[in-house]
Amino acid sequence: LRDPAALFEPVRKNSKGFDLSDSEVLARIAAARDTALPDAAPIIASGTAGGTTRPVTNPATGETIAEVTEADAATVEAAIAGATLWQAPVAERAEILRRAADLYEEDFGPLFAALAREAGKTLGDAVAELREACDFLRYYAHEAEAANPEPIGLVTAISPWNFPLAIFTGQIAAALADGNAVLAKPAEQTPLIAAMAVRLLHRAGVPVDALQLLPGDGETVGRALTSDPRIAGVVFTGSTDTARAIRKAMAENLAPGAPLIAETGGLNAMIVDSTALPEQAVRDIVASAFRSAGQRCSALRCLYVQEDVADKLIEMLTGAMDLLTLGDPWELTTDVGPVIDAEAKAGIDAYLTAKKGQILHRLDTPDTGLFVPPTLIRVSGIAEMEREIFGPVLHVATWRAGEIPQVIEAINATGYGLTFGLHTRIDSRVQEVAGSVEAGNLYVNRNQIGAVVGSQPFGGEGLSGTGPKAGGPLYLARLAEPVGATTPA
Ligand code: NAD
Ligand code: ALA
Repeated sequence: LRDPAALFEPVRKNSKGFDLSDSEVLARIAAARDTALPDAAPIIASGTAGGTTRPVTNPATGETIAEVTEADAATVEAAIAGATLWQAPVAERAEILRRAADLYEEDFGPLFAALAREAGKTLGDAVAELREACDFLRYYAHEAEAANPEPIGLVTAISPWNFPLAIFTGQIAAALADGNAVLAKPAEQTPLIAAMAVRLLHRAGVPVDALQLLPGDGETVGRALTSDPRIAGVVFTGSTDTARAIRKAMAENLAPGAPLIAETGGLNAMIVDSTALPEQAVRDIVASAFRSAGQRCSALRCLYVQEDVADKLIEMLTGAMDLLTLGDPWELTTDVGPVIDAEAKAGIDAYLTAKKGQILHRLDTPDTGLFVPPTLIRVSGIAEMEREIFGPVLHVATWRAGEIPQVIEAINATGYGLTFGLHTRIDSRVQEVAGSVEAGNLYVNRNQIGAVVGSQPFGGEGLSGTGPKAGGPLYLARLAEPVGATTPA
């Protein structure tokens, strides 16, 4: 007789992650602390790669942790010329992607060390990031087996530094699951994690000519990889301005039908009304605005609180902010790590200087490292925010009973539409807001970050992205030939 529990086993499971209170996990993490991070360089099928080198720095300390060799024009050309579709049957591709997820999990110590030291990720964020990367690998493997897709050809994958493992892996996993050949360009700030991930994917069995790594900067390597007519499609995550530049380059150089998936920025809002549970709302506001030092596209930027409860809620919020610990991302007690680089810090600091008179609350700044203290700023509304401030800066505005339509109109008028949060205990308000707000992901009575692959497909509309949503059922089809079409030569 079959074990009845087996009948309820899901066909695909999300990664269970790592328990940071487990002494064995902690021992492995401690042992990885001083792992020497490998230098990064292009990994291409022909094996010969050239370019100039530059140091990679730890944002928490400013120290040089390794070097990266950035691809030169000849290396990009060799990678494009040497790329080959991944012709293994779909079941074999899926098995290899699943094996890669297992290898990522086995190698968690060095990956956490790289996430902390190269990207400033706290250990909590590193756990979430590794889980998401593994979830993407297993989810797209599973979806590909169900769809048996036909590849479109050579796909460029361009990723940001803020999810240097999860988004980097997700883009690649989707394109590979379809059987495409992939050219992966990581963000300038995070080439080491990318090189570690590509090595694990190769070790799992992905052929080198189906997955090549081209570190380099956006204006040269990124531009070359989005303006060569041999490229069949592009997957991009990053800023809205860069998405526009890529679309232009593709329109001028690639086949007219070449797909672009662009997942971009947001000006994300949350509405809290007077029926919300204040402790729950404050916990979720803090996580949404300040976790990952606010360096998430999904992060809460503008909080709208009903006037009647605003003073009380803001008092609780500033109290909760005071409990946050800023500092070394490797310490278990750290809640908020550094921002990614000196340019990011200078940009946020300049914004905060301009808004000085409106600052309601701010933590102290550590003396060294690229830290921006969590900050709360009073605004009249989201229209005061001209752009996405990519850091731990939360804006707060108030609204009066009856003003929800105007608040939503102002939020929609930004043109962005990524995440949106609502805290209320009024059922009809959930329907009212869900029916009128333009956002890809709407969260009710919880935080608005950390979408779970396969359960909460993630992506925005308007200035926030093209869709289809990452970690959702439509994603693979965008990088595959329509059903019934012939395979490219
Ligand atoms: P960015 O646009 O500056 O860079 C992203 C990538 O694009 C990098 O690899 C960069 O080298 C490359 N690039 C830059 N110029 C290019 C060009 N002309 N041609 C080709 N490639 C080019 O973004 P960032 O600062 O690395 O990331 C932060 C941004 O990403 C924020 O706006 C954030 O909201 C957004 N983001 C969105 C999502 C999402 O899922 N919607 C997820 C994470 C980050
Ligand atoms: N998928 C990431 C989140 O939801 C960006 O926070």
